[in-house]
Amino acid sequence: MKAAVLKAFGTPLAIETVPDPILGTGEVIVDVVATGVLAYANEVLSGERQYLLDLPVIPGPGAIGRVRATGPDATHLIPGDWVYCDPTVRSRDDALSPDITLQGLSAGGEGGLRLQKYFRDGSWAEQMRVPTENAIRIGSLDEADAARWCVLGRILVPYGGLLAARLQAGETILINGATGSFGSAGVAVALAMGAGRVVATGRNVKLLEDLARWFGPRLHTVAMCGNEEDDRGRILEAAAGPIDCVLDLLPPAASTVQVRAAIMAVRPYGRVVLMGGVGMLGGAGLDLPYPWIMRNCISIHGQWMYPPEATTQMVRLIRAGLINLDHYAITTFDLDNANEAVAHAASKVSPFTMTVIRP
Ligand SMILES: NC(=O)c1ccc[n+]([C@@H]2O[C@H](COP(=O)([O-])OP(=O)(O)OC[C@H]3O[C@@H](n4cnc5c(N)ncnc54)[C@H](OP(=O)(O)O)[C@@H]3O)[C@@H](O)[C@H]2O)c1
Repeated sequence: MKAAVLKAFGTPLAIETVPDPILGTGEVIVDVVATGVLAYANEVLSGERQYLLDLPVIPGPGAIGRVRATGPDATHLIPGDWVYCDPTVRSRDDALSPDITLQGLSAGGEGGLRLQKYFRDGSWAEQMRVPTENAIRIGSLDEADAARWCVLGRILVPYGGLLAARLQAGETILINGATGSFGSAGVAVALAMGAGRVVATGRNVKLLEDLARWFGPRLHTVAMCGNEEDDRGRILEAAAGPIDCVLDLLPPAASTVQVRAAIMAVRPYGRVVLMGGVGMLGGAGLDLPYPWIMRNCISIHGQWMYPPEATTQMVRLIRAGLINLDHYAITTFDLDNANEAVAHAASKVSPFTMTVIRP
């Protein structure tokens, strides 16, 4: 099969013919129809992000495709089914604390690296092999819409955070980093889940205005200036009442001061979910006051990706019309132009753009 292969960090992807994946028990082979490119894929492939990724590898986290073959343990999947290949691969030999590797992207630690030795290659290829439970049926779709369905990989991330935050209909949620790819998706998902008020922060005033125009009266934007007290003051003003939960999705370049400005706006007994990349490349710690957490009964929850059942639940939200995939402007590339796709994704101008490779 044809695949894009990363042989060394900082070198272009090699587009070449590699052996087809071989099916084992507990696995599914999927014909990849469309696969998304992260806006920061360039930073992963250059090594700048320092992600744990053993080379050589076929990159690419997640795909929309059709089942080609199943192992003997599959009781529902059949060849031809449309599936989302969830890149969140969990080890199966410790139900309490499974190791995680994101297939084709990054391992979570030493255990994740061991898992990555086997569930290694991602989706920038004509076929991929995934654990049976990671090939999740999404129902029938027109092949022309496969690229649009790659948006699933984008919106599932903040959905994982909002599920972890136990967001209830009518509540007020603050999304920190709302002008970003995942943050803006978080705004869309929070509104779909029935949030009464979404407070959206960012420094880019133009994008905040776009968000306000797209999402209407339940959205309230806050332009952040970098001064913790001032920013928190404006957040509380925009919330016009208690903030029930905070979802942070800032990138590694952001500071912990920016995170703290948002977190400490949560109400007593509120819930905070951290999903961003802050601190991944070092820097100051979060430094939250112990008494503030204790006396206010604050819950702080870290969340990597989303639970296994989230995909099926999100497909229902999409099919019910609560999430509109047409919101996204999709640019597609074929596999031969995978390097161009990575460069294009990095140059995105709006949070509601998506770059897709169609093998
Ligand atoms: N936990 C998970 O499962 C998971 C999954 C995927 C990604 N992530 C993390 O989520 C992070 C965000 O990803 P993304 O693709 O949404 O990033 P992005 O599109 O670059 O968005 C970054 C957001 O942060 C804001 N920001 C604030 N300070 C910034 C600074 N100093 N430099 C750059 N941006 C700053 C940006 O908006 P303004 O410029 O308007 O401030 C924007 O709202 C990733 O870096 C990754 O680490 C986590």
